[in-house]
Order: sequence, then structure tokens, then C-alpha cells
Amino acid sequence: MRSTAHIKSHPIHPILVPFPIAFLIGSFLFDLYGFVFKEPALYQTSFYMQVAGIGFAVLAAIPGLIDLNKTVPPDSSARKRGIRHGILNTLMLIIFTIAWFYRKGDNADMRILLLMEFTGSILLFIAGWMGGTLVYRNQIGVDRRYAHSGKWKEVFIPDDAPETFAVEGAEDLKYNQMILVHKGDKRMVLALTENGFVAFDDRCPHKGASLAAGAIMCGTVQCPWHGSQFHVHSGEVTAGPAEEGIRIYKVLKDSGKIFISTINK
Ligand code: FES
Repeated sequence: MRSTAHIKSHPIHPILVPFPIAFLIGSFLFDLYGFVFKEPALYQTSFYMQVAGIGFAVLAAIPGLIDLNKTVPPDSSARKRGIRHGILNTLMLIIFTIAWFYRKGDNADMRILLLMEFTGSILLFIAGWMGGTLVYRNQIGVDRRYAHSGKWKEVFIPDDAPETFAVEGAEDLKYNQMILVHKGDKRMVLALTENGFVAFDDRCPHKGASLAAGAIMCGTVQCPWHGSQFHVHSGEVTAGPAEEGIRIYKVLKDSGKIFISTINK
């Protein structure tokens, strides 16, 4: 689903992450080369690369945290992966920061420094691998564009709004377009099908993907992660791997406005 920290749909986090990866792993390689081939002049380059790497890592963490909290579907496998990704990167950053202070001291032992940098680089590699999975498998930050899907739409309803509430902009939906509706912690999808408006839970019961980031067609919504399909009028599963159906909400129309009712159907 579309990143929250974005510039015209381009997620900011992936734009920034190559910098700390290149600078921090580069600093380790410069130190290693300088140590093995007895060229201590390279240590100075590594020193400044570490400063740049640490600075860019902090900068990249800001949109990353925004996306983790606002974009990654809550209660999903991607959320757990995103948290592990953040923890590993934090550890990596702490290790490189300690290494940087250590090298500034008198009598720093290059072997200890290299060990710290190697550990930080391995953590960075694993965290980067997870980041790749978040994008290429979980599609975090991917702005869906199937035929006629329209632009990504999200609406925020205050938590204390009545159980039956109007959804702004719903009347502009075209067939097979969806709006992700947040009401407090609850996430629902409002969509227009050939048979009228429907509303259902955003969470795929398989691993928690956002169904609003999937595709809807002929009264069926397909999950973007592993392809489970659900009938949007009954909520039943029409294709696995999901085994449970999704909750359906009542949709009402009054004075040209579209309302969702979260009172049990
Ligand atoms: S999360 Fe696996 S099919 Fe939806």
C-alpha cells in the first residue's frame, strides 16, 4: 500500500537507505583494506564515511518509522518483520556509533574496531534483507495501480464518531474502486461494485495484509500478498490460503452521502 512518508507516491525511506548502507559498509571495507595492506591513510576516509553513514541512518529512520506506524498493516506478519527490521537497524547504529567513538580514542586496537564494524555490517545486511522483503513481498510503499483502480484514497474518522458515519468522497468512487477507512484503530474498506456499495474489514485473515491494497473485481476482493479471495457481499472465502472470511459492514445511502454502520449486521 502507498507509503505515508512519500513525495508524489515515491516512498522517502528507500530513497535514503542506500546512503547508510554504502557509507557504513564502505567504512568497514576501507578499514579492512588499510589494516591488511598496511595503509593507515585509509582510516581517515573511513572515519568520515562513518560520520556520514550514521547521519544518513538517523535521517532514513524518520520516514521508516512513519511508514512502520502508519503504512504497514497493524496485526500483520509485515508489522512483526518491520519491528525486527527497526530493532536490527537500531543495534547496528549503536555498534557503529560506539565504533566511531572508540576509534577516536588513543590506542584504539584496529582488530577490535574491525570486529565491531563487521558485526554492524552483518546486522545491516540482515536488516536490509528484511527491508527488501517488506517492499518486494509485502508491497509496503507500493502504490497499487490495477486497471481503473483510481488513486489511493484514505479517510480518517474520529474514534468517537457515531457507529454509523458518513465517508467523505465515497460518492465519487467508480466501479471497483476502494477507500481505506480508519476509525480509531479499526480499518475498513468501502468499495463500489456493480451491485452497489460494500464495506468490509481491511485485514486479510491469513497474514494480515491490507485488502484495500489489493484488487476488487466482479464482487470479489483479492489479497495482494498471497492471493486469497473474498466475496465482498457475504465475506466468504472464495479462494485460499485464507481459511476464515472477512467481516462485512452495512452501507447506507442518505441525501447523496454514503454511510458505513459498524453495528452488527
Ligand atoms: S495475507 Fe496471505 S492471502 Fe492475505
